[in-house]
Amino acid sequence: MIKTIEWTDEGIRMLDQRLLPTEEKYLMLRSYEEVAQAIKKMVVRGAPAIGVSAAMGLALGASQSVGTSVADLEDDFSYMCQVMSQTRPTAVNLFWAIERMREKFQREKAAGHETETIKASLIEEARNIFTEDIQANRAIGHFGAELISDGDTVLTHCNAGALATAGDYGTALGVIRGARDAGKRVAVIADETRPFLQGLRLTAWELAQDNIPVTVITDNMAGHVMKSGKVNVVVVGADRIAANGDAANKIGTYMVAVLAKKHGIPFYVAAPITTLDLSLKTGEEIPIEERDGREITHIGANQLGPDGVNVHNPAFDVTPNDLITAIITDKGVARAPYVESLRILAETDTAGATG
Ligand code: MRU
Repeated sequence: MIKTIEWTDEGIRMLDQRLLPTEEKYLMLRSYEEVAQAIKKMVVRGAPAIGVSAAMGLALGASQSVGTSVADLEDDFSYMCQVMSQTRPTAVNLFWAIERMREKFQREKAAGHETETIKASLIEEARNIFTEDIQANRAIGHFGAELISDGDTVLTHCNAGALATAGDYGTALGVIRGARDAGKRVAVIADETRPFLQGLRLTAWELAQDNIPVTVITDNMAGHVMKSGKVNVVVVGADRIAANGDAANKIGTYMVAVLAKKHGIPFYVAAPITTLDLSLKTGEEIPIEERDGREITHIGANQLGPDGVNVHNPAFDVTPNDLITAIITDKGVARAPYVESLRILAETDTAGATG
């Protein structure tokens, strides 16, 4: 099983995703600052994985605080939360995880617990977030498998697999693994996903490890491939989903959704409930990360573009809800009108609903 992130007695062990697929190297992160840097620099990436990493980073940071009173620990912890929240702006799972850790702190404090007890509880909470993410992905796989037919070829964009989550199934790839585990034959077409190449480097690597047939195409081939009848269904992940179902995901996802609509191919978004941001009415309000232009002008150390060329590098785009056939969550499958179906799923305690 791919171990994206792991809590150990020594620190947080993380697979350095920047080096995949040619090098499988694990880093041991020994402070919350190192974890924050790892998120910023894309050692770890993918919305759920970012959330789990942030929670573990905060637990690690709190455990190392030298504050002797609960008030000192709280000051340190608040500062760490602030640092963590400035790592990446789009994936809401980051802010969700920070908020959940803050709430845990406040409950412990209100219960009159001492610093050592609070520190231990924060570690337990981070580990719970990790375990819950794996369970959520299994549930997504279970619900999503029903939408895949035996013999389907699924097109996906970016990497929404084990590497983008706490590990194991993943979200979009969880649907594919769920279908495979339900006995269906399924093949995958992976967009390479310029400029960071998560599809080529990560999705292709992950699926090959799992013996799921995968074919890589460049992003500009998706239309041709769909028109040629080679794609039965599209499944992608999400970084933040607004109350109306508009979904932010890796740049290029919107283009794929438009093409899927044109060719009558179902377009599914797979994400845990923790990726919902019901405080945002529409996707217009989702902050889109702008990344270093070097990701476009260079591949590794090789410069491809002219010196000083202007570059625009938005890392995400928003797919409007009318292009989304359904949103597959760990609580069930939501369909339009999403304002209603997502709200119902968000309020569902146990898995099983179908909106
Ligand atoms: O910039 P990244 O690699 O963090 O972006 C990741 C994506 O856009 C994924 O598709 C998304 O987070 C879903 S991951 C389960």
